[in-house]
Amino acid sequence: MEGKKQSSSIYIFALGFILAFAFPTLLNASRFYARKDHLFPEFIKWHISIVNSLSYDQNLFTHCKSTDDDLGINNLSPGSNITWSFRTDFFHSTLFWCYLSKDSASVQFQSFWYDSRLFNKCNWKNCIWVAKDDGVYLKNLSQSRDELYYQWEF
Ligand SMILES: *[C@@H]1O[C@H](CO)[C@@H](O)[C@H](O)[C@H]1NC(C)=O
Ligand SMILES: *[C@@H]1O[C@H](CO)[C@@H](O)[C@H](O)[C@H]1NC(C)=O
Repeated sequence: MEGKKQSSSIYIFALGFILAFAFPTLLNASRFYARKDHLFPEFIKWHISIVNSLSYDQNLFTHCKSTDDDLGINNLSPGSNITWSFRTDFFHSTLFWCYLSKDSASVQFQSFWYDSRLFNKCNWKNCIWVAKDDGVYLKNLSQSRDELYYQWEF
């Protein structure tokens, strides 16, 4: 008798959990974010790249991190890139930011945040940031066109 009572209270707890937490989360996610083939961003493996497209043989220093990961300092030779992969958490709080510097200028920017417009630009998979002489561009993968997002600060 005792055991039966206990297990039914576990069911009630589980049902309460689903109604209170899991269900609204899914509802929320599907309402705002499931734009591409009904995929949830949480199930996608995201890739972020920083590409050195500076002219005159300049190196690009990068330091990217999230609240959980520090990707360290990289010194990218011309034409090379740093790429990393991750999955977003279910709390929609995954955030990466990067500090880039070249000769006499630097810039600090968010390279990943939870935003369906960004996800569209990344084609729901690859966010490619391209450092050029006038600033940092995000590659528009569907049009293979780069859009200027951040300018260097001198
Ligand atoms: C990054 O570099 C690798 C190795 O050279 C290359 O295969 C890949 O296409 C590059 N990625 C980007 C986004 O440029
Ligand atoms: C990509 O660029 C094209 C041409 O400017 C634009 O119409 C389209 O909205 C862009 N796509 C995204 C996802 O920003």
